[in-house]
Amino acid sequence: MCGIVGYIGRREAYPIIINGLKRLEYRGYDSAGIVLSTPKGFELVKTKGKVSDLEEKSTSIDQTPTIGIGHTRWATHGVPNDVNSHPHLSNNGRIVLVHNGIIENYESIKKLLIEKGYTFQSDTDTEVLVNFIQLFQEEQNLNLRDAVRLALNEVVGAYAIAVLDNQDPDTIVVARLGSPLAIGIGKDEFFIASDASPFIEFTKDAIYLEDGDMASIRLGEEVAIHTIHNNEPVSLDIQELQLNIEAIEKGGYEHFMLKEIYEQPRSIRDTMRGRLLVDEGIIKMAGIWDNQERFLKAKRIIIVACGTSYHAGLVAEYMIEDFARIPVEVEYASEFRYRNPIIKKNDVVIAISQSGETADTLAALKLAKEKGAFIFGINNVVGSSIARITDAGAYTHAGPEIGVASTKAFTAQLTILSLIALKLGKKNGELSNEKYNLLTRELDRIPELVEKILIDCEGKIEAIAEKYKDNRNAIYLGRGYNYPSALEGALKLKEISYIHAEGYPAAEMKHGPIALLDENMPVIVIATKRGYYEKVVSNIQEIKSRSARIIAVVNEGDEQVIAMADDHIFIPETAEEFTPILAAIPLQLLSYWIAVKLGKNVDQPRNLAKSVTVE
Ligand code: G6P
Repeated sequence: MCGIVGYIGRREAYPIIINGLKRLEYRGYDSAGIVLSTPKGFELVKTKGKVSDLEEKSTSIDQTPTIGIGHTRWATHGVPNDVNSHPHLSNNGRIVLVHNGIIENYESIKKLLIEKGYTFQSDTDTEVLVNFIQLFQEEQNLNLRDAVRLALNEVVGAYAIAVLDNQDPDTIVVARLGSPLAIGIGKDEFFIASDASPFIEFTKDAIYLEDGDMASIRLGEEVAIHTIHNNEPVSLDIQELQLNIEAIEKGGYEHFMLKEIYEQPRSIRDTMRGRLLVDEGIIKMAGIWDNQERFLKAKRIIIVACGTSYHAGLVAEYMIEDFARIPVEVEYASEFRYRNPIIKKNDVVIAISQSGETADTLAALKLAKEKGAFIFGINNVVGSSIARITDAGAYTHAGPEIGVASTKAFTAQLTILSLIALKLGKKNGELSNEKYNLLTRELDRIPELVEKILIDCEGKIEAIAEKYKDNRNAIYLGRGYNYPSALEGALKLKEISYIHAEGYPAAEMKHGPIALLDENMPVIVIATKRGYYEKVVSNIQEIKSRSARIIAVVNEGDEQVIAMADDHIFIPETAEEFTPILAAIPLQLLSYWIAVKLGKNVDQPRNLAKSVTVE
């Protein structure tokens, strides 16, 4: 959460920082700010609201300087208002700082600073940090880099920071612990950003700062990286970026979310490409293959994740247990990390995370690593923190996902988890050759079935959304593999339309939610032919007799359920195990269209952030 961008070079920094902040708005968008370094001092502007509000306010400043840093915020300490926005200035006006993360011991540092006569305008932990740096700089007469280093050694928490000093205007100092930071290296220019998207059109060479490292970036010199703890030099690991600019633009769609929904035939195919060789009956996955002993001897697989990624984990639990007969537990990373979990050396812990940066998931993995488990990452963002700390992993290849509500990353996760489950089942002999061949062929068809759903749903879901958009509640039901689909459908609706929605296993409805049913309650039921169809039909009858309205997601050719439903959406028939991939598509579209019709900000829903780098 929170995005940081910086530039130092020969061009005007302002447009680079503003455009970069727009690309990072998925990380937080309740306030924004920019500071440019001039020989006469800082040009600083910040505001509550979005980067576009910042642009409007920035007409008052000199936009020509070639050095600057900017910030887009997701509030942790202090409400989103102008004063709490970053950048924050030190009391003496010499140092300015942007920060992504949380300084946990800020209150004790603030107390100390107040005793020394410092004053504070904002409620933020960041203003405390910038003044703490001033304290070290003044008391020990240090340059910016050393003052930052000493201050950070006293700080408890998580951060990615960028700092400027107006008495050394050709330098940006950056540091990271727990929150990501990349440095783009151009010719006579450097970029910094929370991910590489702000500088992708300028350079393909980047350094991802490691946890506990800081860098001093000076014009005309090589980047110098040192450890924060003991000032040891760190060698430069320059990586070539694979991102391209088209992938992070809207490409003619009204919203990123819609673009990403429509990209799914491609993103699912890309996730399988080179891995599922259906004619040879082979699944190639180096991360699994190279570590197959760990997986096959595992007494247990533990999956940790948050949000939508957690729902993908729930589907994987059913699939891995079913295909490979290895016990699987799925847990919210935030719960797992704090409950003293039993982790054994022969456990395999899989973290699922689109961003690869979610603080709780990262911490859960670190805990599992400390206890000696084998840790495996399923991430979408190449080079992310989780990808770097895991023993092995597999990327989902969905491409950059910008819409805050996850869509294509979810179906890519389901795809890769299907491949893993099939591979393990085949390898340990629990899955018969016949079933394996049937399922791999079925999985290979999924992108084309997703494409068909997208074509068939055109216009239809929009019309259903119009009918139901004014309801304030909704219930989603599914059984077996589609119980997680119900959870995910409900989450999508909540996230972007702010309608209260609950997902339930259909049979559990009798144990509480049925009390909510009346003619005002829409119930979205997934009732596909191969998954407990008859049982779900009985549940639908129970709903019908309470006068609730039913929107059914059913297979083509269904007659029984559509006769009872008020509205229905068809999806093609496939293996039960892969229906969550197909069912996700109409549920994503339903949420999308309801949010659009309610006039909500689909790509940047209130209070949410795409990458939750604080716990
Ligand atoms: C946030 C996002 C969700 C996402 C969750 C986990 O809450 O808004 O869309 O599912 O974080 O993120 P991850 O990057 O770990 O999958």
